[in-house]
Amino acid sequence: MVDKIVVKDLTLSYSDGTESLDHISINIPANEITALIGPSGGGKSTFLRVLNRLNDLADVATVTGEVLIDGLNVLDPDLDVIALRRRVGIVFSRPMPLPLSIYQNVSYGLEVAGEKKRSVLDEAVERALRLSELWDEVNDRLSDPAAALSGGQQQRLCLARTLALQPDIILLDEPTSALDPISTAKIENSLFELKKDYTIIIAPHNTQQAGRIADRVAFFLQGKLIEFNLTDEIYIRPQDERTQDYISGKFG
Ligand SMILES: Nc1ncnc2c1ncn2[C@@H]1O[C@H](COP(=O)(O)OP(=O)(O)OP(=O)(O)O)[C@@H](O)[C@H]1O
Ligand SMILES: [Mg+2]
Repeated sequence: MVDKIVVKDLTLSYSDGTESLDHISINIPANEITALIGPSGGGKSTFLRVLNRLNDLADVATVTGEVLIDGLNVLDPDLDVIALRRRVGIVFSRPMPLPLSIYQNVSYGLEVAGEKKRSVLDEAVERALRLSELWDEVNDRLSDPAAALSGGQQQRLCLARTLALQPDIILLDEPTSALDPISTAKIENSLFELKKDYTIIIAPHNTQQAGRIADRVAFFLQGKLIEFNLTDEIYIRPQDERTQDYISGKFG
């Protein structure tokens, strides 16, 4: 088992004084699905955003500690953030397609990165749409506007857009919270396939979803990582009483 991401003593405070991550240390293995669970405000989204430096755009006062991806120091102020974000893609809870065609939504990132060859783009678009389980539904209308797709299809399109850039880590922040059960199942299936080639970290829609798809689960509570273990261990034999109480629904 290879650790893809190594986090040591990560602490983050927003400018209003909220300490949102409190001395987090965690090693996240490659080619697994790691789920971050816990009540609202626990720091799950903040943690995800640190991993591709999206917190640079928020009102963050201090970040201390260490975050290494394949040994690369993510918090290095001199880091090439654009390159990092190509390696570490993110999908948010509300699908936000660009006001372009289905095809262009997927090819856009590659075109911005300078890819011009139609055959390369075609191949990348098809691959990404297949991986996100959308190809069969859209291959005969790739030039239609993305806005014409259903919400669930739009979310799979957003996943495809991320995949087109061939990241090696995919972050998903409640990607199915706005979706119907069928689209949710398609995204979950797709993640199962994707973990063979990618490292996936997800803040799931609920604890049931974590139970269905995650290899490991990290329980966040008020900025602290309370427990991190194999999914079955967390659900069947939690070590911490707070994990037990959360899993059993004593608090939400
Ligand atoms: N941009 C921001 N500016 C200031 N404070 C923030 C910001 N984003 C999050 N916070 C605060 O940081 C803490 C952690 O929030 P975060 O969104 O990471 O939690 P979460 O676990 O993702 O919650 P949820 O389950 O509701 O999505 C909260 O107290 C929140 O109010
Ligand atoms: Mg969140």
